[in-house]
Amino acid sequence: MASTIHTTPETETARKRYNRAARFYDVEQAVGERLVFRRRRRRLWTKAPAAGRVLEVGVGTGVNVGYYPAGAKVAAIDISDEMLARAGRRAEQLHVAVDLELMDAQHLEFPDAMFDAVVATCVFCSVPDPVAGLREAWRVLKPGGALLLMEHVRSENPVLGMVMDLLNPLMVRMSGANINRRTLENLRRAGVQDFDVSSHVFGIVKLIEARKPAATEVR
Ligand SMILES: C[S@@+](CC[C@H](N)C(=O)[O-])C[C@H]1O[C@@H](n2cnc3c(N)ncnc32)[C@H](O)[C@@H]1O
Repeated sequence: MASTIHTTPETETARKRYNRAARFYDVEQAVGERLVFRRRRRRLWTKAPAAGRVLEVGVGTGVNVGYYPAGAKVAAIDISDEMLARAGRRAEQLHVAVDLELMDAQHLEFPDAMFDAVVATCVFCSVPDPVAGLREAWRVLKPGGALLLMEHVRSENPVLGMVMDLLNPLMVRMSGANINRRTLENLRRAGVQDFDVSSHVFGIVKLIEARKPAATEVR
């Protein structure tokens, strides 16, 4: 695992925040995990290929490790070394092989078209420049590969959306996560035009699947 990384001040702030949060992260997330996220993670990961190369972006404490396809070669990155250390311990306990790397989602150190799938759950709410991160995720996908996301987003309900905007600075300070990200818009800005979306929890949680066009179809 690399020990140094060059980041922007915003990314450094996010990194420090998640390093501090790592210790209590699983406990703090336990209720949301049980009520909202667990079964949706499982569903998202069923769409990952059973073999080939898979990248998980923002692995956190390794909540997804148990869902990695047994036949896939998985790499997982995070900006927080404390999170990575926890993910490593979880992978060991579950006897799951994964290459963990300290890396910035906005500047992936992988060549173009390396992975058959890129997966991220609850990550692009906290990456400082989500469009840059999504563009990188798309870049490292092979043609025909799948970008699989589970993200909480700004509500499409105008009143609830406004409340989320108002509360966002407080939530970022408390947890590092933006609760008002427009992730579908961000995907389009990153050059991902076609994707399937399913909406959950009043439209606030989205499962997203984008398939990268085969090489001849790339626009
Ligand atoms: C809300 S947690 C989600 C963790 C995990 N994916 C999950 O589903 O529980 C967000 C994770 O994204 C990571 N993260 C934030 N900014 C990042 C960046 N620029 N590059 C890589 N990881 C980042 C954080 O360190 C943290 O582990």
